[in-house]
Amino acid sequence: MIKKGIILAGGLGTRMSPITKAVNKQLLPLYDKPLIYYPLSVLMLAGIKNILIIVNKGQLNQFQKILPKNNHLGLNIQYKEQPEPRGLPDAFLIGEKFIGKDNVALILGDNFFYGQNFTHKLRKCIKLKKGASVFVHPVKNPNLYGVAKVNSKNIILKIIEKPKKFISNLAVTGLYFFDNNVVKYSKNLKPSQRKEIEITDLLNIYRKKRQLNSEFLGRGGVWLDTGCIEDFYSASSFISTIENRQGFKIACLEEISFKNKWIKKIQIREMISFYGNCDYSKYLKSLIK
Ligand code: G1P
Repeated sequence: MIKKGIILAGGLGTRMSPITKAVNKQLLPLYDKPLIYYPLSVLMLAGIKNILIIVNKGQLNQFQKILPKNNHLGLNIQYKEQPEPRGLPDAFLIGEKFIGKDNVALILGDNFFYGQNFTHKLRKCIKLKKGASVFVHPVKNPNLYGVAKVNSKNIILKIIEKPKKFISNLAVTGLYFFDNNVVKYSKNLKPSQRKEIEITDLLNIYRKKRQLNSEFLGRGGVWLDTGCIEDFYSASSFISTIENRQGFKIACLEEISFKNKWIKKIQIREMISFYGNCDYSKYLKSLIK
């Protein structure tokens, strides 16, 4: 059972400069909440309470204002700073102590997931004992992502980072589940041409050992990128459309905690006074009426 999760929220967000010059991208609003709420909600939906958030240098105070270690979400949150972007598997080196002898999930701080049955799939993934699991999803522009080629039995045959030649339209999303070997394997990775250690190299270690499992979000599943300004605004508009049509919020952390029975009404009341008079608070009030 995976009980620990890491959110990699470092990086310089250069593709979204100048708006990311003073503020970490994960703190910018994706419609009505800071972007970090969305990946955090995914770990919480998976049932994971122990969270390590890796942030870039100089941003720790900002993150702690919105997600303090002593929070009313029933979460055990820890922080670590990443001095400079060194690639995604760096999360397992920075997080070595946090991980200890356990298995671990990793989600990238700018990935958005949504869909029917998603929680059910997450609950299945956290049962991982050995090996690794990744979520794959079709996209029109696979050359921007890690790409997986799978056979008819959904076994991953190949994973290539940002392939120049088309191999498949299945992107490897930024949500991963690993056994404890991930720390050891990450230590042995060599930097790529872009001078970073690569998640695809790590996944290929598991693949070669026949220990890499693929999960599909399915046609009704949604995975959105928030890497550049255009994608960021499309994702915002998607969330606004769903929330305003149906009246429920996506990634309301307090709602998930409450449903998971990690917090009681009293903590929700505390959060209402923390947020103050806003739509989000109104929504929280409606949950405990
Ligand atoms: C990273 C990974 C890539 C993955 C993507 C998902 O890409 O390297 O394999 O598909 O995240 O968001 P990056 O965002 O660093 O370009």
